Amino acid sequence: MSGKTAFIPSYTFHRCIFASATLIILSLSFFSIRSLRSPLQAQNQCQSNLLVTAPTDDGILSTEESMPVSSSTAYHSPEIFHSSYAEMESKFKVYIYPDGDPNTYYQTPRKLTGKYASEGYFFQNIRESRFHTEDPNQADLFFIPISCHKMRGKGISYDNMTIIVQNYVEGLIRKYPYWNRTLGADHFLVTCHDVGVRAFEGLPLLIKNSIRVVCSPSYNVGFIPHKDVALPQVLQPFALPSGGNDVVNRTILGFWAGHRNSKIRVILAHIWENDTELAISNNRISRAIGELVYQKQFYKSKFCICPGGSQVNSARIADSIHYGCVPVILSDYYDLPFQDILDWRKFALVLKEKDVYQLKSILMSISEEGFVSLHKGLVEVQKHFEWHSPPVPFDAFHMIMYELWLRHRVIKY
Ligand SMILES: *[C@@H]1O[C@H](CO)[C@@H](O)[C@H](O)[C@H]1NC(C)=O
Ligand SMILES: *[C@@H]1O[C@H](CO)[C@@H](O)[C@H](O)[C@H]1NC(C)=O
Ligand SMILES: *[C@@H]1O[C@H](CO)[C@@H](O)[C@H](O)[C@H]1NC(C)=O
Ligand SMILES: *[C@@H]1O[C@H](CO)[C@@H](O)[C@H](O)[C@H]1NC(C)=O
Repeated sequence: MSGKTAFIPSYTFHRCIFASATLIILSLSFFSIRSLRSPLQAQNQCQSNLLVTAPTDDGILSTEESMPVSSSTAYHSPEIFHSSYAEMESKFKVYIYPDGDPNTYYQTPRKLTGKYASEGYFFQNIRESRFHTEDPNQADLFFIPISCHKMRGKGISYDNMTIIVQNYVEGLIRKYPYWNRTLGADHFLVTCHDVGVRAFEGLPLLIKNSIRVVCSPSYNVGFIPHKDVALPQVLQPFALPSGGNDVVNRTILGFWAGHRNSKIRVILAHIWENDTELAISNNRISRAIGELVYQKQFYKSKFCICPGGSQVNSARIADSIHYGCVPVILSDYYDLPFQDILDWRKFALVLKEKDVYQLKSILMSISEEGFVSLHKGLVEVQKHFEWHSPPVPFDAFHMIMYELWLRHRVIKY
């Protein structure tokens, strides 16, 4: 978390002594929170061992087996989350730079539907929310409102996108005093289209210092955990209502249907396509065979396999959560959304890609009780993966705001 301070040049150093002192205090409290958490995490690990008895190569820990199994809450630390969330609700303020023509790719969302709806919702929600302030002196963070998804819609090339972003941000740096105080560390931008991740590369400080909220948070391609934020990808609107309390209808062990556009998907389809208990099919289910057949499979399945595609992320994860099917994450290097708040092991299976070869035995090793507990956890977190306009408490927008709130204190001017 403290990595950002390294980029502050010495001429601003004296201004930052107070900030550094604050940072140290915060780091200490962060570590004490961590140490509060670690018994919980140990406990969680213990519980997931009870749920998943498949062999792991971590060789975990016989001493933990005597620890009590915690009650099923999907949060690492519900008390800390709730009190800190309440503080955010009452204090957090964001200034949105007013520049840029709203009819091109600034300020307003392209649309609230489709695969990149999370970007559109954020752009709209921030203005509808109480976090928006017109007074930059009140602001904890500064939002750079440029939408790569909208640029994409206007057919702008990747090279030109990079130039447009660079010119726009350099304009803000010249015109306003805020960027130079922290060299962008209290600034953030939001992009769901993966092209956006690269479009910001024209200005290195945007990558090194600013907080990037992105749908493809892969930490082997430039995403910086603890500084950047994982935005959940959510295909909108959902075609059918949310699932829950319907385990009796979940008779299919595991389900996946999609395109084989990544190595892991090719392997998944190759190994399991003819299996009689896993419903793995190598093509997207055709619309011709019936209305919403794809979505209805999520209601009938216990586990929904979510392998990475061209990026680590996939809208299938949010679909699974919505329809009440326990997601099985098969995507290495994925910084999962909200994972510092939510304990994914309570509502998902997070496997390594190489586990694909043992997929069936891993799923079969989970007892009915273990599955019911994961399903219950899933219903508990559904609200965090939904978008609304205007936004409602604890929805995806508020969770992103909370992640930003956790980061705003690292550098406070
Ligand atoms: C990129 O920008 C240049 C200069 O504005 C323009 O001439 C060119 O057509 C643009 N290319 C694309 C693919 O948008
Ligand atoms: C911020 O710093 C840059 C580089 O030193 C400078 O060009 C720019 O004018 C400064 N902005 C303001 C508003 O002073
Ligand atoms: C199970 O499926 C049937 C048939 O589709 C449906 O009528 C029923 O409501 C479902 N049960 C639950 C608990 O969702
Ligand atoms: C699955 O079945 C099809 C049709 O019988 C066959 O062509 C294919 O090789 C089988 N795949 C595997 C992995 O056995």
